[in-house]
Amino acid sequence: MKIIIVKDQNVGGKEAFKLVEQEVDVGKLKTFGLATGSTPVTLYQELVNSSLDFSQINSVNLDEYIGLSAEHPQSYHHFMKEHLFEAKPFKQNFLPNGLAKDLEEECSRYDKIIQDHPIDFQILGIGENGHIGFNEPGASFEGKTAVVDLTDSTIQANSRNFEKIEDVPTQAISMGIKSIMASKKIILLAYGQKKAQAILETVEGEVTEEVPASILQTHSDVTLVIDEAAASLLTK
Ligand code: F6R
Repeated sequence: MKIIIVKDQNVGGKEAFKLVEQEVDVGKLKTFGLATGSTPVTLYQELVNSSLDFSQINSVNLDEYIGLSAEHPQSYHHFMKEHLFEAKPFKQNFLPNGLAKDLEEECSRYDKIIQDHPIDFQILGIGENGHIGFNEPGASFEGKTAVVDLTDSTIQANSRNFEKIEDVPTQAISMGIKSIMASKKIILLAYGQKKAQAILETVEGEVTEEVPASILQTHSDVTLVIDEAAASLLTK
């Protein structure tokens, strides 16, 4: 694992942008794996402000809430439109459909999309409990796209974007850890003290399904872009 420690989320966005730019410049980015949440926002702002052209690049997102339409202001479809897709048109944008009638079928459809569009470069955030995508502690390292129950800590953390905690969906469709690990390159972003324990366990802890992000220790091309607060518990 390569670790880049930055002052704050703004500098983190700039550092991560440089890594994306390199891939686009050498023509290696055909499919871009994207995350939502507060963490990648500064990176997306850098992408929007840049002259990078994504019109020949596909994107595949990690997850979507079950029960929210694409137009719902809290849906990840809406988030991506607002923070990136409206300003930067891609060839195609793929996200799971949170309103699919048959969720099993939707998971298979999404796996087929990932299979047909192998991810070259995956952006990840991390949950305070070490989740990646919405693969919560205990999720199988062999897992593919699945319907997942969100843990209380994830619902609590995500409730900041909803009017009240009861409005936060309790389930999501998430790309599985096996698909995330199949990405050629991975950048994990983390900012703030609340992420420090998860970063410590991810980098220095045992590789265990109890800390989903710890599997990244076994990937050959992972870069962490983290701020000083998120790095504060690292000992090495
Ligand atoms: C979102 C996702 C999640 C988030 C994580 C951190 O697509 O896959 O793993 O990256 O929950 O969320 P923030 O960035 O809001 O702290």
